[in-house]
This record gives sequence, C-alpha cells and structure tokens, in this order.
Amino acid sequence: MLMAHSLVPYRVWDMINKGRPFGKLGRPPSQNAIVHHGSQAHAQPGCSRKMMKETAPAAIHLKDYAPPRWRILSVDLCFVLDPEDTRVRSRLTLVRNGQAEAPLQLNGQDLVLHHIRLDDRPLQPGDYHLEGETLTLHDLPERCELSLETGIAPAANTALEGLYVSGGNFCTQCEAEGFRRITWFLDRPDVMAVYTVRIEADKARYPVLLSNGNLTDSGDLPEGRHFAVWHDPFPKPSYLFALVAGDLVCRRDGFTTRTGREVDLRIYVQRHNLDKCDHAMRSLQASMGWDEDTFGREYDLDIYMIVAVDDFNMGAMENKGLNVFNSKYVLARPDTATDDDFVAIESVIAHEYFHNWSGNRVTCRDWFQLSLKEGLTVFRDQEFTADQSLRAVKRIQDVQRLRTLQFPEDAGPMAHPVRPQSYIEINNFYTMTVYEKGAEVVRMIQTLLGREGFRRGLDLYFDRHDGQAVTTDDFVKAMEDANARDLSRFRRWYDQAGTPLLEATGTHDPETATYRLTVRQSCLPTKGQPEKLPLHIPLVMALLDARGREIPLRLEGEDSAVAGERTLELTAPTHVFVFQDVPELPVPSLLRGFSAPVNLRFPYTDAQLAFLMAHDTDDFNRWEAGQQFALKVLQGLIEAVQAGQPLMLDARFAQAFGQVLANGALDAALVAEALTLPGEGYLAEQMAVVDVDAIHQARQFLRQALGAALGDRFRAVYEATAGAQGMDATAMGRRRLCNLCLAYLCASGEAEAVALARTHYGSADNMTDAMGALRALLDCPGEARDQALAHFEARWRDDPLVLDKWFGLQAMDAAPGALDRVRGLMSHPGFSIRNPNRVRAVLGTFAMANPVHFHALDGSGHGLITDSVLELDALNPQIAARLVTSLSRWRRFDEERQGSMRRCLERIVAHPGLSRDVYEVASRSLDG
Ligand code: TRP
Ligand code: ZN
Repeated sequence: MLMAHSLVPYRVWDMINKGRPFGKLGRPPSQNAIVHHGSQAHAQPGCSRKMMKETAPAAIHLKDYAPPRWRILSVDLCFVLDPEDTRVRSRLTLVRNGQAEAPLQLNGQDLVLHHIRLDDRPLQPGDYHLEGETLTLHDLPERCELSLETGIAPAANTALEGLYVSGGNFCTQCEAEGFRRITWFLDRPDVMAVYTVRIEADKARYPVLLSNGNLTDSGDLPEGRHFAVWHDPFPKPSYLFALVAGDLVCRRDGFTTRTGREVDLRIYVQRHNLDKCDHAMRSLQASMGWDEDTFGREYDLDIYMIVAVDDFNMGAMENKGLNVFNSKYVLARPDTATDDDFVAIESVIAHEYFHNWSGNRVTCRDWFQLSLKEGLTVFRDQEFTADQSLRAVKRIQDVQRLRTLQFPEDAGPMAHPVRPQSYIEINNFYTMTVYEKGAEVVRMIQTLLGREGFRRGLDLYFDRHDGQAVTTDDFVKAMEDANARDLSRFRRWYDQAGTPLLEATGTHDPETATYRLTVRQSCLPTKGQPEKLPLHIPLVMALLDARGREIPLRLEGEDSAVAGERTLELTAPTHVFVFQDVPELPVPSLLRGFSAPVNLRFPYTDAQLAFLMAHDTDDFNRWEAGQQFALKVLQGLIEAVQAGQPLMLDARFAQAFGQVLANGALDAALVAEALTLPGEGYLAEQMAVVDVDAIHQARQFLRQALGAALGDRFRAVYEATAGAQGMDATAMGRRRLCNLCLAYLCASGEAEAVALARTHYGSADNMTDAMGALRALLDCPGEARDQALAHFEARWRDDPLVLDKWFGLQAMDAAPGALDRVRGLMSHPGFSIRNPNRVRAVLGTFAMANPVHFHALDGSGHGLITDSVLELDALNPQIAARLVTSLSRWRRFDEERQGSMRRCLERIVAHPGLSRDVYEVASRSLDG
C-alpha cells in the first residue's frame, strides 16, 4: 500500500496532531475569566501556558501518578448552542476520594466562567481560586454539587479540539484533553461519570442534535429553537464525551446482536454525501459480527452513531455510541475512492467500533497507558482486516508501515517506549510506536500464548476490569493469570525504546547431521536509556531442505522431531539452538510472519534469497526474501551512483523477479506486493548517511530497467488483469497488479506505455484505475500527463476528498520545480491551511514523499515546511507539531542538509509564543 499521502498512522495521523498555545505574544491572554451576573469579563492572565523566554513548559511524569482526590459520580450538561457564544451549564455530583483537606482542582482552558454555585449557593470570587487553567475550591463537604456556567466560542476554535464548527455544524473532539475546553472538569481518564446531556439550538440551522447514549427526550422551544436530551448509562471518562449538532442526514440500518438485541445503526453526513455511506455501513455491520465471533464481544447500547466531518485532526474518534470520523474514513463510492480507501475505511470503522470494549468499557488509568487501548485495538483491527482479505497481504502491508514509519521514529530523537515515561504534550504521543509497535507487542503475546491462550487472557482482562481505568500492567497480568505464564521479562517491551537487532548465523555439521543456529539480540541506546536489557522475543522459524520442504525439527535433548515451524523463545543476549537429524545444509526461514518487531540479519547469499523467494512455505517470508534481495541490489546501485559508475541490472535479480511475475499460482495481490520495491524511506534507513538523490536515482533506474527488461511480461500481465469488476478482495488484487504493471511499463519510458496509460485513464470506471494511470504518468512528463491531471482537476474540483488525491500526486512529483508547484497548490482555491486533510495532502506529502525536493540542497524545501509550521501553529498546534517531525532526523544527513534542518528547528524553537506541541517536538529534535 502506498503510504505517501499519510504522514503517519492513518488512525492517528491521516490525522496529524493537535495541542494548544502555552503563550502567544501579540495574542490576547488566556480567556479563562470570570464574569458575574452579566458584568464585563475581566480576563485573568493565563499563567500556566505562558512560556516565558527562559522557562520551557514542564514535563509530566508517569512516576508522579496519583489517584484522583475527587470523583464525579454524575454530570448534567446543558448546551445552549451559538457559534460565537455557546453557554455550557454543568452540574457535577462530587464525592471526596481520600483525605479531607484535599482541595478540588478542576481543569479548564479558554473558558469564560459566568456563574458558579455550590449546593445551590452562589459563590463569590473569594470562595474559589481561578488561576491559569485551574479552578480551585477549598473546604468542600464530603459530597456536594457544583454548578457552573461557562462561555465558549466554537466558531473561533481552529485547533479542532473541544467544541468547534466544521462545515457550519457543531462537533466535539475531547481526546485527550479537549473536554477542559468545554467546561471545568476533572479532565483525566480515571474519573468516570454518568452523563446526561441537554442540547438547545436553532431548529432550522441545527435540526440534528446528538450526544452519547440514548435519546430520552426532545421537543420544540420558543423562537424557532428545539432541544434534545441524551443519557449514557455507562460511566465514562470525559475524553469519550461527544456532541454533534447540525444540518445532517443519516443512512440507517440495523444489527441484531447474538443475544437478539436490535441495534439502530446511523451514519450522519451532509446531504450531498448520502450516496457514499454504503461501504461504511457494511463495514460497521461486519465489524460487529466479527467481534462477536472472534472475541465474544457484544455491543451494549441500542444505538450506534457515526458522524462524518470534514475538519478533523486525526482519522476518527471512538466516543461512546457516537463516533466522530474524518469524512475521509467514511465517504466512498467506487468512482470517488480507491480500493485502498475502501480498505482503510473498513479498518478505521472497525478500529473505532472495537474500542467500545478495548478502550471504552475498559479504559486507561492515565495517558501513559495509551497503548493499552490503542495497541490492543490496532491489533484487533489488523486481525479483522486479515480475516476479510488475504492474511499474508495484510501482514506485509502492516510490516511495511511499521518499518517505514515506526522504525525511524524509534531510531530518532522522538524515540519513546510503548509506555512513555514522560511527555510535555500528550497529543505528541499518538504515535506509530504507541499504535503500531503497541499492536506488535500484543501480537507477540498471542504468538507466545497461542490463539486460545490469548483469548482466555483477553476474556479475563475484560471480565476483571469492565468499567475500570487500568494499566498495561493489568493487561499483561490478565494474560499471565489466564495462562499460568510468567511474562515479567516480556514486560520490558513496554518500557524499552528502540528496535532490537537480531543477528543470526548458522553452521551445518555433516558428520553429526546437526545445524547450529546462533541468535544474538542487541539494541542501540536511545535517549535516557543508555543500557538495553534483553527482551523476550518469539522467533518463529523453519528449516527448508533443498526442495523447499520443511525439515522436522528436533532440538538437542528432545526425544522426537516435530513437523513444520516452531517458535523459539529468546530471553538472553545470545542463544544457540542445535537441531538434530539435519542431513544437509538447510536454508533457514527466520522470523516468519514477522513474529517480532525487530531487524533481522542473516548472511544469506543471493542464491539463497532467490530460493526463498521461490520456495519458502511462509508467504510473508517469501515476500521478505524478495525485499532483502531487492535491498542488496539497490544498495549496490546506490553505491554505483555515488561513485559515478554506470548502473547495471542484476541479471539474477531480474530473473527471480520475472519468475514471480510469471507465477500464475500466486494471488494477484501477493504478486503485486512481491513486485513492489522497498521504498525510498526504507532505503534511507539502511544508510549511514542518507543520500536522497542517489537513493532516488538508484530506485528509478531499477524500476526503469525492470520495466524495459520484462516489458513483454508486464504487458501480458497487464492485459490479463485489466478490467476487473467489483469490490471484493480478488478484484482489488487484480487492479493492484494491473496498475503496478502499468507503472513499470511507464517507468521504462516507452512511448507505447504512455499511450497505454492514457487509455487506461480514459477508460477507467473507478478511482483505483484513474489514480493508477495518473501515478504511472507521473514518471512521463508530457502532454498525456498534463491533460490527464487537468481533466482530473476539472472533474473533481468540487469534491475535496478527491481533490486531495490530485494535490498529493503533485506534491510527490519528483520532477524539477517541485517547490513552485507546491506553492502553487497552496494558493489553489481548493486549498485551506485550516483543513488538516488539505495540509496533509500538500505539505505532508511533500515532506514525507518527495525527499529529493524536500531535502533540496539549497534548503528551500525545509524552509517552506518551516514557514508553514509557524503559520499553522497559531491555528492548529496539533497539526503543526506533526509537520515538525519531518525535520527531526536531521542528524542522518550530510553536513549541508544537517545545517539547513538544524537552523530550521532553531528558528522554530525561537519563535515567540510557540505551542507546547511544536516546542516539544522541535526542542527534542535539537537536543535528542
Ligand atoms: N482515539 C482515536 C483513535 O485512535 C485517536 C484520536 C482521534 C485522537 N482524534 C484524536 C487522539 C485527537 C488525540 C487527539 O481511534
Ligand atoms: Zn484508537
């Protein structure tokens, strides 16, 4: 799957990020203020987020966790909606949790406090203390009711956190700490309350009024207004609160749970998108059925709602009973969305649905435990997708994503453990490490315990902790208890950053018919972790004989051999495994299915890699052998480019590649994965000093040379796979392979291929083929390409999600003049720096998928991103911080580029009034 358009993980970061300013020169002081009985607001300076020149914002540490001193049993909220001045009345039922003297300290941000009453007695300014983002009350009784009226301005909220306006409609985003932008609260996940929410708004402008749980009342009010009351019976943390109000229509359907309860399913969208909801609805139904069948998890409310909004920082949000989605992960029709979009929608819908158990029923004690819900839920959505399509293809794509996005994070200045120890801004920790490496950690537990053992552990976890806010330790404990296993060494995966390296060697002794496999594990130091301890690593492996058959395995000291593969458990720095009855030198197939998130080195010869490519009985490892072979070939080409030598196609590689192409027994999707060369980012990771130009030239050469050498076969496979109909996995696999062949043909530069791509575009009846043609034409400057791009723009200028594809294609175009093109895109009428999807499509793609121009020697690419970061930071710090990560690995480059990137980071850090989000990423990058 091409990740080019997504700066990071799609749930997280087709998504970028959020945050808030901690002080901004030339900007009004924090709006936290008190107004009594209609008097003028007199602002109090918001101290906590002001970054004085010398004082950096403070970090929060896991070791400082303390249970809340108060609990909130129930919350009654009343929203009187108005884009400029929404009033939020809240009534909190509070009980003390611990010592009598503890004051109540509520979080709030950019709020105007209009009224405050304790047990129905109005409080005077001397009765409480309002400073910065904390509202403190002393000497409260054991149990009390606090009533507040707060004013907020949703239309002015460009951070897209808290209550904001998107496309004229109201919506909320509260994870992680957005609820404090709505009203004063104990805004932490270990405070769980029962919510009742009343919404009042103008009926014509906002006919639909939604919140979590069940609708309990609704009706008309004077002056054309109306109201709705929602009650959610499940206690929940504030980050799962949601409210939506607007002019929306809904696509309705239903689901009958396995115990026979009828669930009302609704997808709310703007009217013109009603014909793009079918796939999302089917995906939701499939997810609900799958979670029952696979994990025995049933849905618990009578209604499940999804709302699509255009302005959204991330992919989607699992609010109880009322998911809010980036419209990119809902809306799809075959002519507007690619096959990859369809698959991504299915997976994000599943992800948010699965959170109902892994996240909502059992939630996180604090934000350091984020991977408790995210790692587990990503694992669950990965398994779901694997069951809907080809398991091996799904695994290959997940591993590619991990290697190209998570491994670099884990090797750079932003490296952190799956359970971080500290953060400045939690929004910066919705990362590939917490999500994807976290999912790998869960997957390793399943590998160690077996599927059944894992299921037992998960059942115990849900049973034991239903309704609680818990830790990753509690999760591992449930796995241990249900299986009588000791996972104490395994727990280090949660605390140690960095990608481990496994170095394996094998020697065969014909005399004794034994094969000695030696495996050594190590891990480079990361910031704050100079020494790494050995981890508990499952190494799934097999030994193959000369005909590619798995040799039965018997280790020294065992009585009998076991057929097939086995899982070796590494716990020490070095292990030696001695296999018996191995008559001839075998080819080891190691780390099958990528059984651990590590780098593996084994000194394979080219012949052995070609053998594994053709014969390994593990689909994943067959693909992996091809990737390692291609990597060796590309590394040779990179060196040739650097040395100014002529580039030549490796004949043995071309032959192995051609055999895969000709292998009619393989599934088309698997062939397509096997024929996709390692990406430029992955190649960069393998170099001591990244040389973006040499990498690009080497990879382009290999694509061109393969396209030319195997032109007839590509053409034949193109013909054989063209015209696939339908949206099933088989048709999708054929389209993928067909478009890949087209891309190779175009890379060869033949005029005939350009004509073929033009026809392919012209006759495309679906977005996958249209994009496949455009992508292929990107390599072929000329009239055909320009015409197709112009046609696409004219055809889709009114559909922002489709236009993003057009933006992204041009942002990744490596032809000369990229900087001007990107500037041009930013002044296109369809572009807006306020919309995260547009920013990702143009700036994100440029920074992540156009290395040659982003890293242009004159520093112009870095400068453009830096200017954009600073402009964005004033509007949406979460997205701005995501963009800064593209500069964070400056130490990997040559001196000139290092200097340019470092100066950009220094310029960012020196910028007055920076957000905490951007400050944390930029400053860590500089000193990491
Ligand atoms: N919990 C969401 C998910 O993984 C992620 C998310 C959506 C999010 N919006 C956010 C996280 C805003 C932080 C801020 O499904
Ligand atoms: Zn999630």
